[in-house]
Amino acid sequence: MEVIIKRDAEEVSSEAAAIFRRQLKQKPQSVLGLATGSTPLGLYKRLVAMARAGELDASRATSFNLDEYLGLPGTHPQSYAAYMREHLFQHLPVARWHIPDGMAQDIPKHCAEYEADIRAAGGIDLQLLGLGSDGHIGFNEPGSSLGSRTRLKTLTAQTVADNARHFASPAEVPRQVVTMGIGTILDARHCLVLAFGERKAQAVAAMVEGPVTAMVPASVLQMHPVCTLIIDEAAAAQLQRREYYQWVYENKPAWQRG
Ligand code: GLP
Repeated sequence: MEVIIKRDAEEVSSEAAAIFRRQLKQKPQSVLGLATGSTPLGLYKRLVAMARAGELDASRATSFNLDEYLGLPGTHPQSYAAYMREHLFQHLPVARWHIPDGMAQDIPKHCAEYEADIRAAGGIDLQLLGLGSDGHIGFNEPGSSLGSRTRLKTLTAQTVADNARHFASPAEVPRQVVTMGIGTILDARHCLVLAFGERKAQAVAAMVEGPVTAMVPASVLQMHPVCTLIIDEAAAAQLQRREYYQWVYENKPAWQRG
């Protein structure tokens, strides 16, 4: 795993945007795995600005979102479908986008179809991920099978509380979700994880330097051959080897810088 520590959230988002730009330049028909939450907002703003400046073209790309709340239609303002339209797709259209349908009648069938659609698209080239404060990725809460595929999950009380800020009251946060599984995420060719703020420092340390365990789903990314973690200094605060990660980054050979 490559760990890149930047001064603040702005710099994290810029570095991540450069990775997206490079990916789309190398492969305009890329399959992108997209995430929601507050973490990707700065990145999405930059991608939109880059597209407006003619520096990035996502018009031939396909996207798959990680997750969606169960029982929220795409018209609900807190659905991830509404989030994606508002923050990305209405400004930066991709050729085809996919988001799990929280209103699907037959959830297991829908999940199997979502997996089949990812496979039919050729698999995910670049998967963006945020990090839950309990170390979850997508909505794969602690204890999720490390081999799991897209399926229904029940949120922890902690995640409900964390995400309640987006809803009128905690009671309105759906308890269940549809999420890509950890196995689905691990199939992506490149995983890009972003995190900022003190609130994520413990999860970042457990993900990077702790044991690989289902209790910290993000720790499984230690097994991924191409994973980039970009964090700010506050989120890096509990890393024991932060100086080494900075040293590696500063001494990167020119050909690896892209
Ligand atoms: C939710 C999402 C995750 C996201 C996490 C962190 O649980 N399903 O994909 O990474 O929240 O949220 P935030 O970026 O707002 O801190």
